[in-house]
Amino acid sequence: MKVLVVGGAGYIGSHCVRQLIAAGHDPVILDNLAYGHRKAVAPELPFYDVNLGDREKVKAILEDEAIELVMHFAAFCYVGESVTEPVKYYENNVVATLRLLEAMMDANVTKFVFSSTCATFGVPDRLPMTEDLPQAPINPYGQTKLDVENILKSLSHAHGLSFAAFRYFNAAGASEDGLIGEDHDPETHLIPLVIDAAVGKRENIKIFGTDYDTPDGTCLRDYVHVDDLSRAHIAAFDKLDQPGAQHFYNLGTGTPNSVREVIQAVEKVTGKKVPVVEAERRPGDPPALYADSKKAKAELGWEVKFDTIEKIVETAWAWHSAKPEGYQDRG
Ligand code: UFG
Repeated sequence: MKVLVVGGAGYIGSHCVRQLIAAGHDPVILDNLAYGHRKAVAPELPFYDVNLGDREKVKAILEDEAIELVMHFAAFCYVGESVTEPVKYYENNVVATLRLLEAMMDANVTKFVFSSTCATFGVPDRLPMTEDLPQAPINPYGQTKLDVENILKSLSHAHGLSFAAFRYFNAAGASEDGLIGEDHDPETHLIPLVIDAAVGKRENIKIFGTDYDTPDGTCLRDYVHVDDLSRAHIAAFDKLDQPGAQHFYNLGTGTPNSVREVIQAVEKVTGKKVPVVEAERRPGDPPALYADSKKAKAELGWEVKFDTIEKIVETAWAWHSAKPEGYQDRG
C-alpha cells in the first residue's frame, strides 16, 4: 500500500518507515524537520519537507503520490513543555492535524492511523489499563491527543473516515541493526538519559521520587519497543477497509518496570555502573502506568518481540554505541 508517513523522520515514525518497507509497503515521508532527522530516513525514499498543517501542499502530495493511507506521528511530545506552552501544543497537535485531515478529505483519502498516548487516560482508576477506562488527561499534551481522537470519531461518523488510534505506553529502544534510534533535543526520556549517565556523558541520573506506593518506591512504566509499536500499526491496515471503521488499541508489553529496574538493566547491558541521585518527585508523574494489550493481541494478532526491559535496552545501547552523538544533522 502507498502510505504517507507524517512525522516519518521522527523517532517512532522513522522506525515505522523501515517496518513498512519490511512488510512490503511503499512509504512516502512528510516531515518539516522541526524535530525529525533527515538522516533517520533512507535518502532514496520520497521525502517532503512540508508542514502537516499546509492543507494545499498536503493535498497535492496525496494526489500526486496516489496515497491510500496516512499515518500521523508528527506531534510535539514534551509533557512539561505542553504545560508551560500550551498554545504551541494545541496549534501543532490539534489545529495542524485538523488541516491534515481536511487535506485527506479534499483528496478522498479515507484511511488514517494515529499515534495517541496513554497520557489520554491521566491517572488511571485501574491497572493494567484497558481501552475502556475513562479518559481524563492531566496535561495539555494528553488533552491534545484526546482532542484528536474525538475529531477522528466525528469525521468517521460524518465523512466515513476509517481510523485506528494507538495509545502508546513508553516507546523505547532502537532498530536492531543500530542504524536509527532515539535522538531528541532536549532528551527527557529515561532510557537514553540513563545510558548517558552510564557512559559519563552526564554526571548522574536523578530518580524522580523514591517514596511512591510501588514495590521499590519508584514509578512503574510499561516500556515497549518502537519496532513492536510499528508492527501493530501495520497490522491494523486490514481493519480500515470498512468505511467509518473506528479502532482504539492500548499498546504496551503489560509488564511494568520501575525506574530502578531500568537503571539495573542499563548497568547489566552496558557493564557500567550508573551514578544515581535520589531526587524529588517530578510534578505530574502518575505512580504506575501499564497496559492491558489483550485487544491488540486478539484483533491484530500482535505479539511483542522485545518482551523484557533488557532486550529493549540492548537495542538502545547498540544505537548509542554506533552513534554516541546521535544523528548530528543539526547546525
Ligand atoms: N525519570 C526519572 N529521571 C529522569 C527521567 C525520568 O526518574 O531523569 C522517571 C520519570 O519520573 C518516570 C519514568 O522515569 O517515572 C519515565 O519517564 P519518561 O520521561 O521517560 O517517560 P514518561 O512516562 O514521563 O512519559 C512517557 C512519554 C510521554 C507520554 C507519557 C504518558 O514520553 O510522551 O509517557 O504518560 F505522554
